Amino acid sequence: MAYRLNSLLGQVVEPPIAEVHGWVAGRAPGRPLIDMAQAVPRYAPPADATRHLQARLGDPEIVRYAPIIGLAPLREAFADHVGRLYGGPVSAENVAITAGCNQAFCLAMMTLAEAGDEVILPLPYYFNHQMWLDMQGIRAVHLAFRPDRGGVPDLAEAEAKIGPRTRAIVLVSPNNPTGAIYPPEVLARFLALARRHGIALVLDETYKDFLPGEGAAHDLFRQPDWAETLVQLYSFSKAFAMAGHRVGAVTAGPAMIEQLTKAMDCVAISAPRIGQEAALYGLGHLAPWVAANRQTMRERVAMLEGAFRANASGYELVSCGAYFAYVRHPHRGRGAKDVSRHLAQDLGILTVPGSAFGPGQEDFIRFAFANVDGEAMPEMARRLAESRMA
Ligand SMILES: Cc1ncc(COP(=O)(O)O)c(C=O)c1O
Repeated sequence: MAYRLNSLLGQVVEPPIAEVHGWVAGRAPGRPLIDMAQAVPRYAPPADATRHLQARLGDPEIVRYAPIIGLAPLREAFADHVGRLYGGPVSAENVAITAGCNQAFCLAMMTLAEAGDEVILPLPYYFNHQMWLDMQGIRAVHLAFRPDRGGVPDLAEAEAKIGPRTRAIVLVSPNNPTGAIYPPEVLARFLALARRHGIALVLDETYKDFLPGEGAAHDLFRQPDWAETLVQLYSFSKAFAMAGHRVGAVTAGPAMIEQLTKAMDCVAISAPRIGQEAALYGLGHLAPWVAANRQTMRERVAMLEGAFRANASGYELVSCGAYFAYVRHPHRGRGAKDVSRHLAQDLGILTVPGSAFGPGQEDFIRFAFANVDGEAMPEMARRLAESRMA
């Protein structure tokens, strides 16, 4: 008799990016593919960062485990970075280094919630958040998508949905998939709400380095006792173009970090050491390079907005920022997956259907534009204008 598999995993959706890539596998040569599916920077890390890592490979320590919670200098450097950026008290004891921000989310949820608990997750969600909660038996309680408010979730709705089993509210800003940037006062109200109810505010700031303005995106770290409520998640993948090195961070209160360390020990023992070295180098040396990339992404947002404005294809830009544009497609009544497959197979534009980001998203398509050059935008718009579905 065959063994049984975890039924919770069986109910989790397939990884959407892999499915989307499958649509164009073995594609006949023709127009070059405009790949706007995955949120990865197209550019490589700068040569000095690569040379530094090459040199570090000569150190015998580099192949050993790192401390569970991360290299001390990296924890200190990241605490310093967050503290300076947000103008609040953050120290190394607030920081755990993880194998990417996805793992940061998984560990944070393991630390905060048990099977049967609830976590508030606005629609549309980052699919891996939902997938992880599902496989843990934690119930994701959704907040309605608010395209009328630029995709910013409603505080009163969140409050109404907090119950005795609620353990956290999860927010992503700048948002994946919508690109929405939540105003600082909204984030402050969510923090106050979470504090009032004795639950965590988990804020995924993977895209914080690609904000349109300079300076801090919010003042949450300035709030007294921020560490009792706020759990910030971060990824080094995007800012330093090192997704393959797998490094991220959780910044939270020391009690949270202490418990999270047990989970980290079991799942990874430590984040990859060479990646931690890369992140440390990045924090110390790459600020001007990150700033230049931020400027490039801002220009790309402007080019994308221009391409949609100048376009009579019926594809309507709903929100846009950092790495993402969320677009309402014109083929009403057709599922987002059908439309996204049509874009991939007939027009050579790879996107992710809104349906990957939760219920009620059938009219939407996500375009991730970090992976293409700005010049691709007018060509993308020209192709969208050819969009016809039988
Ligand atoms: C909102 C969000 N969180 C986390 C991640 C994963 O980041 P990492 O590569 O650090 O695991 C992504 C990647 O696309 C993301 O969009």
